[in-house]
Amino acid sequence: MKIFVLDRDGREHPLDALEGWRVMEVIRDWGLPMRAECGGAALCGTCMVRIARQWLDRVPAPQDDELDMLDRLGAEDAATRLSCQILLSAELDGLRVALVPEEEMADA
Ligand code: FES
Repeated sequence: MKIFVLDRDGREHPLDALEGWRVMEVIRDWGLPMRAECGGAALCGTCMVRIARQWLDRVPAPQDDELDMLDRLGAEDAATRLSCQILLSAELDGLRVALVPEEEMADA
């Protein structure tokens, strides 16, 4: 499966991904800038991405931990998510996300 990641310069990167991986892990392991300082525990907010509109209803809704962190970060848009909390499944093959500008990220 693949996901497509828009970087902060507007370039799209098709990345090979595996079911069961987190979106954050795929982005980080392919070497795109992804701080992910808490390692995927929904505690730092440095793995934020924006989900492409056409994928919004296919990505599972955030759980309480993620919602709490998004709230603390002031993320008001449902498209803004913690990429460490999105587990890849076959239904998400082709998912498109964009990296969030650094200045919007938390300083963990
Ligand atoms: S890696 Fe820390 S919140 Fe996602």
